[in-house]
Amino acid sequence: MKTILVTGGTGYIGSHTVVELLNLNYEVVIIDNLSNSKEMVLDRIEKITGKRPKFYKGDIRSREDLNKIFKENKIDCVINFAGLKAVGESVRMPLEYYENNIYGAVVLLEEMKKNGVFNFIFSSSATVYGDPASVPVDETFPTGGTTNPYGTTKLFIERILQDLAVAEPEFNICILRYFNPIGAHPSGLMGEDPNGIPNNLAPYITQVMVGKREKLNIFGDDYDTPDGTCIRDYIHVCDLAYGHVCAIKKLEEKPGVVVYNLGTGKGSSVFDILHAFEKAYGKPIPYSVAPRRAGDVTANYTKVDKAAKEIGFTAKYNIEDMARDAWNWQKNNPNGYEE
Ligand code: NAD
Ligand code: UD1
Repeated sequence: MKTILVTGGTGYIGSHTVVELLNLNYEVVIIDNLSNSKEMVLDRIEKITGKRPKFYKGDIRSREDLNKIFKENKIDCVINFAGLKAVGESVRMPLEYYENNIYGAVVLLEEMKKNGVFNFIFSSSATVYGDPASVPVDETFPTGGTTNPYGTTKLFIERILQDLAVAEPEFNICILRYFNPIGAHPSGLMGEDPNGIPNNLAPYITQVMVGKREKLNIFGDDYDTPDGTCIRDYIHVCDLAYGHVCAIKKLEEKPGVVVYNLGTGKGSSVFDILHAFEKAYGKPIPYSVAPRRAGDVTANYTKVDKAAKEIGFTAKYNIEDMARDAWNWQKNNPNGYEE
């Protein structure tokens, strides 16, 4: 496979994946409506790789936008990052989430089919496991029990993809269930740039470090874990980006539909993450303990055996690397991608 259409390619995970693809000499075409990213990301991608991906400002819900791309480029594979991802917002605006994420994916798949493009990689999430009965989770664990519409869009799209693979054997589909991507490109030129107050742990911590927030609120220290805080499987965004290359190679074997968890296999608590950032910072980071956040599960981390065996994916970076690179990005770009 040579030419990859990356939807949502100017976003956080998409941009890091585009860098990885360009460095490996894939041709990259991006479609993004810039609802949660900036065009300036393209300059940063070019600075890092020496190449500028072809960019279409457009929407995956627009058949016209998609057809233009499929007519003008010979696409071999689509990676679908485009989607809305804020958990709290999805509770307030479920219809927007179902329309953007699910309808968007359906339109994209229909237009792929019409244009004879049958390789698809989907950004799913560990959230599809709900509150797992035990950890580590593997890909055979039951899915369901999502606690918010965002998570439910992932669950429904996975189901649509399974049904599509049965009905249309020409499709080859890789569902990637990401655990908690954090960190940034080691150059400090690309990273996570959330709008408003960050919902997620790592960008909240780096905003405290840069003086934009007063202190971290730790959501509960009375969970049944060694230090009382929740446990997650944090994965460096550059490792995650590489996971997509492994998925592309897998699709060349025409496997039908395949599912992989992408994580490191190591569970880290909120305090472990805080301490990793303190190491990068060289001083303490202010925090206080706040009540539990609704919908949080005690622990979720993955088994890595299936991805290692079947697609050769193993994460290289640890949480100290993730903290160092996230901090390097934030301190060089205190206001994200703003000029
Ligand atoms: P992001 O918001 O940074 O990137 C998504 C990109 O898609 C943005 O650039 C946005 O402008 C674009 N977009 C949204 N709707 C679109 C549409 N209809 N048409 C065209 N472009 C559109 O998010 P991210 O963190 O890079 O996540 C990428 C994907 O991975 C998402 O589907 C997300 O749900 C999934 N995911 C993310 C995480 C995480 O922790 N970041 C975890 C699991 C899964
Ligand atoms: C959340 C979403 C998940 C989504 C993922 C990436 C929920 C329930 N889950 O995962 O669906 O795929 O983000 O967008 O929202 N924490 C603090 N203080 C903070 C922020 C977070 O203590 O200010 C804690 C949380 O309680 C949690 C851990 O840090 O224990 C990680 O939180 P977060 O980064 O939001 O990720 P998840 O909740 O795992």
